[in-house]
Amino acid sequence: MEANPPEATTRHEGEEAEILPLLRERWSPYCFSDREIEADKLKSVLEAGRWAPSSYNEQPWAYLMARRSEGEPFEKILSCLVEANQAWAKNVAVLMLSFARKNFSKNGKPNPHHVHDLGGAAAHMTFQASAHGLFVHQMAGIDREKIRQTFDIPDTHEPVTAIAIGYLETAPGPDMAELVERDQSPDRRRSLSGTFFGSVWGEASPLFQ
Ligand SMILES: Cc1cc2nc3c(=O)[nH]c(=O)nc-3n(C[C@H](O)[C@H](O)[C@H](O)COP(=O)(O)O)c2cc1C
Repeated sequence: MEANPPEATTRHEGEEAEILPLLRERWSPYCFSDREIEADKLKSVLEAGRWAPSSYNEQPWAYLMARRSEGEPFEKILSCLVEANQAWAKNVAVLMLSFARKNFSKNGKPNPHHVHDLGGAAAHMTFQASAHGLFVHQMAGIDREKIRQTFDIPDTHEPVTAIAIGYLETAPGPDMAELVERDQSPDRRRSLSGTFFGSVWGEASPLFQ
């Protein structure tokens, strides 16, 4: 399996400290190639998700997944995204829908961290994808009721996101011009000091003074 492709770059603007290249080079693209993902790489991405930490090791995550090459199963998942997301996600190699189990399987009590843990699994998959030269774009823009009906999802589970995984489109056609523009805008974040407080809420940690 290949490591990062040599042309990998970052869109980050205003970095404040050094981070791993696979984190630095990760971003959520709109211009996906329809190139298939090699089965070993895709399995490796899923395996990374499987090994995410979770409260009481509940592993509240579950997914529906289809490769574009499968045809109808892919179209079914695609049809559950909001239109704005369908417009770009239709090109991607793999689409997933993510679900979180609301209650602990052992005792049926509510699991307050079910969505938190699902997010952790998404992060694991994202960074493993990055290590293989793949990109991930998560989506909140989904039709939850349609997902429940289309796939007969049990009440135990909550639909949370859609996840697109694929290679970047290296030669986007003219019909992709708007998406290219979105992909070229800088990626920015709130500052470290505005995010990590010390012992007083709203005041930067002394680390930054
Ligand atoms: C839970 C979640 C939901 C998101 N929903 C959407 C979405 O519905 N449509 C979209 O285009 N991007 C969506 N995004 C992508 C974010 O807009 C993106 O991660 C953010 O702007 C930071 O950019 P970056 O990932 O390129 O660093 C979502 C990201 C996450 C983590």
